[in-house]
Amino acid sequence: MNDRKRIRAAVVGLGYWGPNLVRNLHASGEFEVAALCDENQKRLDKFGDLYPWAKRFTSATEMLQQDPPELLVVATPVKTHRALTLAGLEVGSNVLCEKPLASSVAEASEMLELAAKMGKRIFVDHTFVYTGAVRRIKKDIAAGALGNLFYIDSVRINLGLFQPDVDVIWDLAPHDLSTLEYVLGTRVKTVQAIATSNNPRGFADVAYLHLEFETGLAAHLHLSWLSPVKVRRMIFSGSKSSLIYDDLEASEKIKVYDHGVSFDVSDIEQRKQVLVSYRRGDMHAPAIDTTEALATELKDIAAALRGAKNDAATGEDGLAIVRTLEAAQKSLAAGGTKVSTTP
Ligand SMILES: NC(=O)c1ccc[n+]([C@@H]2O[C@H](COP(=O)([O-])OP(=O)(O)OC[C@H]3O[C@@H](n4cnc5c(N)ncnc54)[C@H](O)[C@@H]3O)[C@@H](O)[C@H]2O)c1
Repeated sequence: MNDRKRIRAAVVGLGYWGPNLVRNLHASGEFEVAALCDENQKRLDKFGDLYPWAKRFTSATEMLQQDPPELLVVATPVKTHRALTLAGLEVGSNVLCEKPLASSVAEASEMLELAAKMGKRIFVDHTFVYTGAVRRIKKDIAAGALGNLFYIDSVRINLGLFQPDVDVIWDLAPHDLSTLEYVLGTRVKTVQAIATSNNPRGFADVAYLHLEFETGLAAHLHLSWLSPVKVRRMIFSGSKSSLIYDDLEASEKIKVYDHGVSFDVSDIEQRKQVLVSYRRGDMHAPAIDTTEALATELKDIAAALRGAKNDAATGEDGLAIVRTLEAAQKSLAAGGTKVSTTP
């Protein structure tokens, strides 16, 4: 708890994820949960009862008109992000919007333009960027602990949850894309996507994305709603050591393997072959900060609203992820061709 005036926040969307945001807003000591909104009265009552001081609304428009919050938190399905964010900005609120920021680059750009015009901020909930594990990976890569990165391989698969308005790429890839852009400090340049659809809606439910970053580094994402088991694993293969990030591990989320491979090409003409040497050393699992990601994220957002610089999960980051998602969608439609993220 601190003596500073709490930032008045309102949350729209009390489904699966919204209640986590409400709980962390309240626990942070930085925010006052001033209002809650869900068009579903049962959800509103269930969570409204936990925060009895918060005003309750079934209409976001009514909530914003009656009492505009300093921070509007949008935790509704993707198709509603644009309209709710624009409505919040119009009444002078800053907005924390769920991932992905919008359904298209045009929508996300419109949201960022209005924020700039109104002099307000958009933050996007790229939750993983705020985990101790991801922050440690960024630090290790920046310190050169892995050497030159060869490739990244990510698997994010489980059974469901089928989303009503987006496919598996728009639902799951934002986590991998925001994590990778953050730890590498660079944007995705091109994407190739292939997918299958095994459901009557015709949405992609299993997908494979091949990404190339501005640095030339390649990454591969496997995304699925149809896996019988849940896997959340990223492999960062480097010349000095390799790192495996398993988000499902309770205590050893990161394992750094002192394994490597080097290629001797010094005498290639003479030998007509490349000499490959392998090195196998120890594995260590560094201790990582286990603070809940949303707690760290909301602390950063509160600091940003109080004037500090924040450089993670900005509206620009949200737009960048939407650019890659849209490029992936175009690639899918074109049979897996390479599509640039910039027009
Ligand atoms: N950051 C993360 O790790 C994470 C995890 C899960 C979901 N999400 C994101 O959170 C968002 C919501 O996902 P969810 O799984 O909680 O969805 P959900 O369907 O479980 O909940 C959405 C809620 O919003 C309400 N709602 C919808 N439109 C509304 C409107 N116009 N006004 C008021 N209420 C409205 C619905 O009644 C529902 O209760 C999505 O963008 C999703 O991608 C993020």
